[in-house]
Amino acid sequence: MRLFFALWPDDAVRAGLARWSRELHALCGGRITPPEKLHVTLAFLGGVEDARVAEVERAAGEAAAPLASLVLDRPGYWKHNRIAWAGASLVPPELAALVSGLREALAKSRIGFDAKPFVSHVTLLRDAREPKGMPALDPIPWKIDGFALVESVTVARGSRYEVRRSWEASSRRPA
Ligand code: 2AM
Repeated sequence: MRLFFALWPDDAVRAGLARWSRELHALCGGRITPPEKLHVTLAFLGGVEDARVAEVERAAGEAAAPLASLVLDRPGYWKHNRIAWAGASLVPPELAALVSGLREALAKSRIGFDAKPFVSHVTLLRDAREPKGMPALDPIPWKIDGFALVESVTVARGSRYEVRRSWEASSRRPA
């Protein structure tokens, strides 16, 4: 199955991101990420054999789920993949530590993942045109209190994301 680890937004963050998507879409066009698919990818595993999913979950349990404040305050655009995104000018150290802890635990268990450096962002639009300038958008405060293992399920019209399991800050145990 196709898996990735992510920060999964609550409804308020999701609503703020959906608002940014609409504003950016007016400038850049492209395909809007459906609100239920909005997330920050922490580590992208890709295809994982069913028999190894338990190992993936065990490795995730070794990474401490943090409490952190992330403020999405920076819309951005990447020419190379025509993506418009929401980002943060400051990545809290707790989030950077989560990403490295998670990736170290995966590597230790010999679970493969895309090793591209982490760039904290939420993909809002795909196939978007480069805007002349970025609008000022209302910052979106995001209280991070855990992370999720998400499955990308192939469906007739693309994919659907399903949270398989989540880890929360208080207990460091799977929810
Ligand atoms: P994104 O993080 O820029 O949005 C599920 O496919 C998610 O994993 C997507 O949101 C995607 O891009 C992210 N992702 C990260 N690395 C990927 C890779 N090597 N292949 C496909 N998707 C990847």
